[in-house]
Amino acid sequence: DAKPEIYKGLAGVPVDYTAISKVNPETNSLLYRGYPVQELAALCSYEEVAWLLWYGELPTREQLDEFTALERASRAIAPNVLRAIDDLPLSTHPMDVCRTAVSIIGANDPDAEDNAQEQNLRKSKHLFAQLPAIVAYDQRRRHGLGLVEPRDDLDYSENFLWMTFGEESEPVVVDAFRTSLVLYAEHSFNASTFTARVIASTLSDVYSAVTGAIGALKGPLHGGANEAVMHTFDEIGSADRAAAWLDEALARKAKIMGFGHRVYKNGDSRVPTMRTALESMVEHYDRPDMLELYDALETAMGERKNIKPNLDYPAGPTYHLMGFDTETFTPIFVAARVVGWTAHVMEQLASNALIRPLSVYNGVDQRELPA
Ligand code: CMC
Repeated sequence: DAKPEIYKGLAGVPVDYTAISKVNPETNSLLYRGYPVQELAALCSYEEVAWLLWYGELPTREQLDEFTALERASRAIAPNVLRAIDDLPLSTHPMDVCRTAVSIIGANDPDAEDNAQEQNLRKSKHLFAQLPAIVAYDQRRRHGLGLVEPRDDLDYSENFLWMTFGEESEPVVVDAFRTSLVLYAEHSFNASTFTARVIASTLSDVYSAVTGAIGALKGPLHGGANEAVMHTFDEIGSADRAAAWLDEALARKAKIMGFGHRVYKNGDSRVPTMRTALESMVEHYDRPDMLELYDALETAMGERKNIKPNLDYPAGPTYHLMGFDTETFTPIFVAARVVGWTAHVMEQLASNALIRPLSVYNGVDQRELPA
């Protein structure tokens, strides 16, 4: 028999159409519903980008006002979600806290199983509004601090920072943070989005899809890389040690976090925009050493492997400078990518086929049980 071809990691295999975003590795470009992501990052609020990803068009002024009002009114965490977070040990990884909280939010929704488009849009907006409070509160409790109530005079990004730090952030910080959310919001069939689509394809529910997607995002080969980048920076310490550190790491065949990409082989389209945001934070917090280390490792990696940074590389140190704990970085990615996940769940359901690939058995032949 001819051996069937195996597409390990589904590399290079198109599995479905999507109208949500277009990743073009040849031109290093990324479009959300046709718009270049760097232009959206420069000109739009995160709320507008979320609407665009869900509905396919930017919101009208009226739609945006209505959505903004709804988002601001939906930020408070339900008491049983808060209690569940409080019950988790401080050693619980914030991604596991996030996963657990989303699961309870789903359990609280009496219409969780209703997959009508209107219901799924409602659930998507609800998760969108709830995640900042969860991420912010979890970071605070690790520092022995209490919940900061949301403020409905602040937009999504301002309020996220407010609930985390209990003080209003400077506009330049809000802008860098909002940029990161826009860049993280969507990226076609990445591992977590594909996970969400697999779950949706069984006609399960949005909350289950997002809970599963959080599990997929946690790993360091995917979203967990932004946290891992910061551990790398901490380990290296300063720019003059970057090259020696890298040589040692490559010698033991380590994967360097924040570098490389399954689709982009010539550089990640989102990096230049995020690097500019990092530069603004380096200037704001007067930490040129951070950019020196960033550049030293990037240069050394370019010289040795010709592998370029991905979005997680500039995002990690940016969040660090803002004051986020390293373990909070990937949960911020969750708050951003929940838009892409939910948009994909709805797209999957609109023309669903159960996702169920084949495997080729290579275990022992049929045999008899021992007597
Ligand atoms: N460090 C060292 N070597 C690397 C790296 C890296 N970060 N990335 C790729 N390579 C090498 C790899 O060892 C392989 O070399 P060889 O052919 O000699 O075995 C070659 O490049 C091809 O790599 P691959 O692992 O076959 O490529 P892939 O498409 O399976 O992997 C990746 C993509 C993202 C898993 C990988 O680049 C990686 O592990 N990067 C580090 C983790 C990371 O930053 N992940 C974030 C991804 S993008 C944003 C996100 O999802 O959050």
